[in-house]
Amino acid sequence: MALFIDSSDPKEIKDLFAWGVLSGVTTNPLIIAREAPDADLAERIHEILAVSHGDVSVELTTETEKEMIDEALRYHAWDQQRITIKVPMSEVGLRVLHQLSKRNIKTNVTCLMAMNQAYMAALGGATYVSLFSGRVRDMGYDVRPVIESTRKILDREQLPAKIIVGSVRHMMDVNEALEAGAHVPTVTPPILRKMVWHPRTIETINEFNDAWRNRSTKR
Ligand code: E4P
Repeated sequence: MALFIDSSDPKEIKDLFAWGVLSGVTTNPLIIAREAPDADLAERIHEILAVSHGDVSVELTTETEKEMIDEALRYHAWDQQRITIKVPMSEVGLRVLHQLSKRNIKTNVTCLMAMNQAYMAALGGATYVSLFSGRVRDMGYDVRPVIESTRKILDREQLPAKIIVGSVRHMMDVNEALEAGAHVPTVTPPILRKMVWHPRTIETINEFNDAWRNRSTKR
């Protein structure tokens, strides 16, 4: 079991890694375009590497096999142990995955909405397969059976790919992903903060601290 942060903000990532519960980072072009449209990608990813540990997923943005392999090799050179190439699922994506797997480059096959897609990615040697919880729900489908069946087939076939569940919109999506068999939920900073918070916890801590401050001592 692991928990990744879905962000490209080095300041936020540094702050949240200090909690000691995170073990990886996922980014995608939309996250980076929103958070830092003018950023130099290499600089941004190096900043993230410096303030985190574990695998850092960086997604390919090109569309032909040659361009994608060149792009992947460029990212891989930034940190050969930790950079994980996010390969969007498609026929070209599978060819790229195959090339990267043969070179022992870590991969995260992304934009997956269904078990059959995750199964093919796992057969192709993916290190991670990323199921998109919120986007499956946006289409009106229940994502729980998708996660459950993916976990079942990976376990049965002894495929080493780990299931990341991303596109997490609510706290309940995290609980559901964990119960359904995800190896790694990846959550945005606001969701991670919500995972700590509970009104009854705060009330209880306040009650204890008030009692301590207001205690009557004999001294
Ligand atoms: C994670 O790896 C995904 O890229 C991300 O969670 C997608 O989230 P979204 O559906 O909110 O764009």
